[in-house]
Amino acid sequence: MWRTRTRGVPGEGNPSASIVLIGEGPGRQEDETGRPFVGRAGRLLDELLAHAGLRRADVYITNVIKDRAATATTPRRDRPPAPAEVAACLPWLRAQLALIRPRIVVTLGRHSLEVMLPGARIAGVHGRPQHRGALTILPLYHPSYALRNPGARPVLFRDAAALRGLVDERPRG
Ligand code: URA
Repeated sequence: MWRTRTRGVPGEGNPSASIVLIGEGPGRQEDETGRPFVGRAGRLLDELLAHAGLRRADVYITNVIKDRAATATTPRRDRPPAPAEVAACLPWLRAQLALIRPRIVVTLGRHSLEVMLPGARIAGVHGRPQHRGALTILPLYHPSYALRNPGARPVLFRDAAALRGLVDERPRG
């Protein structure tokens, strides 16, 4: 993994939150600040949360990988995490979930979806809550995807609205 800083981006938010959002991995601005989702994708994520009636303070936000995935030859461009990077970071994500014990996990993009629901395809499950015992997983497209593909933006907002209903639901199990 090529790094611009060494502290990593573990995640931030309310450690007692009933909702955890999981992105892919920090980008350049996140790497520089040590905070998740503070760049353009983060601003869109804030809008999505507001659309669902939530604020950052209500949730915990983290990523599948905790360090920026870029390459020395293209330092301005992020790349998808390699399987070995995901595997190396997975114990940390699992520990975060075990400590926070959320009722709802929102996956942002296909990498976090693969971690939470191996084999699921985002095109088939986005916006549709998946119940696993007491845990509900809401798969969403990644905000960066909607920034690259403006046509996906309304879909993302519609899917995020499902979160509002889930928050109001009685705990399962
Ligand atoms: N994209 C992510 O997946 N995570 C971040 O923290 C920022 C952008």
